[in-house]
Amino acid sequence: SEEELHGRIVAAKEALGERLVILGHFYQRDEVVQYADFVGDSFQLANAALTRDQAEWIVFCGVHFMAETADILAREGQQVILPNLAAGCSMADMADEDSVEAAWEDLCAVYGVDPGAIEPDAEGKLPVIPVTYMNSSAALKAFCGRNNGIVCTSSNAAAVLEWAFERAHRVLFFPDQHLGRNTAKAMGVPLEQMPMWNPRQPLGGNNEADLLEAKVLLWHGFCSVHRRFTTAQIDQARAEHPGVKIIVHPECPMPVVDAADAAGSTDAIKKFVAASEPGDTIAIGTEINMVNRLAAEYPDRTIFCLDPVICPCSTMYRIHPGYLAWVLDGLLEGEVHNQITVPQTQARDARTALERMLAAKP
Ligand code: 13P
Ligand code: SF4
Repeated sequence: SEEELHGRIVAAKEALGERLVILGHFYQRDEVVQYADFVGDSFQLANAALTRDQAEWIVFCGVHFMAETADILAREGQQVILPNLAAGCSMADMADEDSVEAAWEDLCAVYGVDPGAIEPDAEGKLPVIPVTYMNSSAALKAFCGRNNGIVCTSSNAAAVLEWAFERAHRVLFFPDQHLGRNTAKAMGVPLEQMPMWNPRQPLGGNNEADLLEAKVLLWHGFCSVHRRFTTAQIDQARAEHPGVKIIVHPECPMPVVDAADAAGSTDAIKKFVAASEPGDTIAIGTEINMVNRLAAEYPDRTIFCLDPVICPCSTMYRIHPGYLAWVLDGLLEGEVHNQITVPQTQARDARTALERMLAAKP
């Protein structure tokens, strides 16, 4: 029962004390968030994994790529646990290492460089730099680390693209086309210079001339939760609630971001609500658990999700308190269930790309 689970989790937390830290993403359900020692967006959670080095175990209530990142950044000997191994991210699965390697070889051929030895040109710039969104496997972060590339989150994507353009003429951005497009557009990159890369087609479905002109090559990935948001929902919210303030996550399609008043990471959305006034009406385009929590925290404002159909992130939702209780009971009995371990060489290369990112503050 719920009560029994609650008792087990509270007792385990108490018994494990400082040896345990529980991290939770904003999209986790309230029944899980209540046990987290720290709740944040992806960037903040990566930093938390880097700095909470007193603990022996990091129990990560989020999705697989976040737990992998925590393992890469955690100090040696710390163990990272994902309560349910089935908590993945469909967007992260849209870019696999083989397809990205193949794309990279194609691009290097077009730009006339040897993929094993890319050198800066007379201007001191590389032809292309890979940028992976945090929502990707450790293998892809390692790929970026080996190839002069970097990781970004939704909170520092602009700073990361600036970093990349100081060093290269172009960026290959994966897996999320929407974050890539929204960020590059806000920086003034014309849409014609942002071709899509479809890994199932030769040259990603492009011709050589377009690839030479390109500034940002957008992998064809997307988030199935955020692509549900539409401009029709925004129009309806504005019609029904004059004066409504609208903020969406940058994983939403470009027309939605353009029609909203603001776009930002989950933490930016939280801050947007915190900065509003009592009596305000705010419509949010992101995952429902987070929207509902904000609505409960600010009962003096009208806060609702743009999508009238409940849209949870189904994989985040797989972290049920039952799994949390199970992994914590395991620790009490000296057993580590569901540890996430990134192989050493991959972790070293991925860490290179993550450290470049952590230096590019939001
Ligand atoms: P944030 O970095 O904004 O927390 O985003 C994580 C995520 O998966 C959004 O879908
Ligand atoms: Fe992945 Fe989308 Fe869920 Fe975020 S909301 S974890 S991008 S599926």
